[in-house]
Amino acid sequence: MSKAIFNTDVLVVGELNVDLVMNGMEEYPEIGKEKLAGDMEFALGSSAAIFASNLSALNVKVAFIGKAGSDVLGQFCRNQLKSRGVDTTLIVLDESLKTGVTIALNYGEDRAMVTYQGAMKYLTIQDVPDKYLREARHLHFSSFFLQPGFKDELGKLFQIAKSYGLSTSFDPQWDPSEKWDIDLQTILPYVDIFLPNANELRALTKTGSIIEGINVLKDKAGIMAVKDGTNGALIWDGKRIFCQPAFTHNFFVDAIGAGDSFNAGFVKMFLQGKDAIECAEYASLMGALNTTEAGGTGAFVSPKQVKNSVLKKFNKNVDYV
Ligand SMILES: Nc1ncnc2c1ncn2[C@@H]1O[C@H](COP(=O)(O)OP(=O)(O)OP(=O)(O)O)[C@@H](O)[C@H]1O
Ligand SMILES: [Mg+2]
Repeated sequence: MSKAIFNTDVLVVGELNVDLVMNGMEEYPEIGKEKLAGDMEFALGSSAAIFASNLSALNVKVAFIGKAGSDVLGQFCRNQLKSRGVDTTLIVLDESLKTGVTIALNYGEDRAMVTYQGAMKYLTIQDVPDKYLREARHLHFSSFFLQPGFKDELGKLFQIAKSYGLSTSFDPQWDPSEKWDIDLQTILPYVDIFLPNANELRALTKTGSIIEGINVLKDKAGIMAVKDGTNGALIWDGKRIFCQPAFTHNFFVDAIGAGDSFNAGFVKMFLQGKDAIECAEYASLMGALNTTEAGGTGAFVSPKQVKNSVLKKFNKNVDYV
């Protein structure tokens, strides 16, 4: 396939914001009181941007389409992506909008989050130029419920991508309204890899277990990889369900972005033509690696650094980085 204009394999469409992460919180917040955090991180946030950044650090050519404000936070997001080799030409920094922010309070392996969506609310299918879509190999979309601009258009975007011969992946992420108002029956037929976590799948399908949730959607979906933290992931490969365990390690820092790194690992292997078993194993390794450094992108600086870390922390040699 010609890459004359664009030279990109994976086009990521999604939210762009910053994370302000409070670590070492000993108590929960209370109205009218001040609590102390032991440490903090200010970093690139948002599922789609972390996915793009980490996939680029795994040596895949990635371009990002998203919207942020024309403010220091928007410029920070764009510079962070650029510094990891992501093509940021199609990021719009809009003077009339403010960049979104997530404040995350970390408590061990889980966290409480408050998000101001800002500019991401205004991204629409019109921001995805047809000629760029045509030239990519794969389209990834993340965080449906934070981006009302795609409420009625996501199925159409995936359908267009499929008609141009791209493969596709979709991570719905959490719905802050908990209404889970999405027409999966019309979207999933155009999705090759569906990537919810266990809580999201249960809520989306109104079921009590991952297996039940998979059974509700499996006739519509291609591959489903359902992430479940330290329990690993359950995968529907189109024929059967299997379990991919998590990789245990002694380097845990936080789990921010673990799901996005899992997604990046899965998509990288998928694009190399690997089967669902190999995709899931590498995805799980990348999810685990994510948890060994602070924030969503700390463990994914460059292909060489990923290779060295995986060898040192997991005693595995990943030649295909
Ligand atoms: N503490 C951990 N140790 C090892 N592997 C982990 C750990 N936490 C997560 N993983 C790996 O990362 C994958 C994705 O993590 P998780 O289930 O937290 O995704 P998620 O809920 O989508 O996260 P996100 O907050 O990034 O959206 C898991 O399936 C697992 O393979
Ligand atoms: Mg997730």
